[in-house]
Amino acid sequence: MNRQLPFPILTAEEAAILIHDGQTIGFSGFTPAGAAKAIPRALGERAKAEHAAGRPFKLGVITGASTGKSLDGALAEADAVAWRTPYQSDALLRKNINAGKTNFFDMHLSVLQQWVRYGFLGKVHAAVVEAADVTPEGEITLTTSVGAANTFLLHADKILLEINQHHPSELYGFHDIFEPEDPPARREIPLYSCRQRCGDSVVRVDPKKIVGIVYTNEEDEVGGFKEPDAITNKIGQNVADFLAGELRSGRIPNTFLPIQSGVGNIANAVLGAMGAHPEIPCFEMYSEVIQDSVISLMESGSLSFASGTSITVTPSVLQRIYQDLDFFRRRMVLRPQEISNNPEVVRRLGIVSINTAIEVDIFGNVNSTHIMGNNMMNGIGGSGDFTRNAYISIFTCPSAAKGGKISPIVPLCSHLDHSEHSVQVIVTEQGVADLRGKHPLERAREIVKHCAHPNYRDELNGYVHDVIGGHTPQSLNHAFTMHQRFLETGSMLQS
Ligand code: COA
Repeated sequence: MNRQLPFPILTAEEAAILIHDGQTIGFSGFTPAGAAKAIPRALGERAKAEHAAGRPFKLGVITGASTGKSLDGALAEADAVAWRTPYQSDALLRKNINAGKTNFFDMHLSVLQQWVRYGFLGKVHAAVVEAADVTPEGEITLTTSVGAANTFLLHADKILLEINQHHPSELYGFHDIFEPEDPPARREIPLYSCRQRCGDSVVRVDPKKIVGIVYTNEEDEVGGFKEPDAITNKIGQNVADFLAGELRSGRIPNTFLPIQSGVGNIANAVLGAMGAHPEIPCFEMYSEVIQDSVISLMESGSLSFASGTSITVTPSVLQRIYQDLDFFRRRMVLRPQEISNNPEVVRRLGIVSINTAIEVDIFGNVNSTHIMGNNMMNGIGGSGDFTRNAYISIFTCPSAAKGGKISPIVPLCSHLDHSEHSVQVIVTEQGVADLRGKHPLERAREIVKHCAHPNYRDELNGYVHDVIGGHTPQSLNHAFTMHQRFLETGSMLQS
């Protein structure tokens, strides 16, 4: 929309000059969707120039979740990130984190916004936010994600906007911005169904805080997915069959329950299998990320509504949405992450959560974040928000990783994100382990029998058989034998 705006129009480089070493910046972006791009790229260049001149330039970087190569990638390349929260998935940033160059703290995504408001992360000096539109009165229409942008906009000292003209201003109406009061004044979040709205279509800020706008025209940097293979398809089929069984038994009501699904190839395959399952009715999602497969399910009529915090779709799929904005506006809503992932709402709506694990132990504990106990992969993301509060919580993973050299099913997780108290069902391509109502030894037998890869079953069964004593039999001497073997020989397999 062309209108006279009372805000300075800046280049990205001019905007970057307004940000100083040591400051904390709240950037928009939940996945690469809606992430600021031009200003962080310019900040990366500025950091390189400062470093070359022998001056320090590092920032505290807060976002909604992971972002794209122009934000995390550019800042990591320039070694410009002093600390980072709450989630990331950039290869270079991951390297810096695991090398100790960037301090990363891994947070449940639903609590990030209240932590900013509570002051737990210190002052946010600037919000750098991508928008589709802004009015002279300071009403901001966000783009393909909300994430934590509304909180950054309200609580940062100053605001720099990237008005990305790649997105139509008709995105107005896709967002539902609700920010709860803080304790002791907090009331319930008034959401009683996936499709209900309880907030505003725009973020309203004091226009005096907007110190500059940068015009851009850029796609979101969302990469494509690997084609589903036999393993991911079988995992998807196993999840869909399990849920159909729950429906048949009456444990899931015949109207079905809203689905939360993680991101990635397994999640895509699970959603595809659910959409194709003859017994699963048209369903709704109350999730975090709306990805490509969700759009296909909507178009085919298998999915009636999706509530999320980002539309993380490949550019061609986004064009499909933009060509039929009215169709999709009626079928989706984007909320702040503290609402999309809110434990109160998740418990109330009876969400079935489906997330991917790196490692699962035989007692049902799950590691979502660390490789071999020490190297950070991405972060816990929203998996804990949903798992802990789900109607049914499901974790998926292949029964073997790295060409069979790793068993994701282990005697004891090398890092803990979700405990046995929250994890109800494990699914691999081998089968389904239903842990509900089972004591630790029963859970161990169920997981090894139904989920472990045949190449690892004997060793895991041996562990269950040999380790005796106590309520949860565990050998502190042998729990990590498989991990140690991998570190020593490059394979968990016994020779
Ligand atoms: N040990 C070592 N490496 C392992 C492993 C294990 N037990 N299990 C998987 N890996 C490796 C894979 O081989 C792969 O490595 P590569 O990138 O070098 O090929 C990598 O970890 C990612 O695995 P992949 O099979 O591609 O899975 P994915 O893309 O589905 O990601 C998670 C899996 C767990 C990393 C990802 O889902 C995640 O970050 N989850 C946490 C956050 C979350 O759940 N978010 C959703 C909530 S809404």
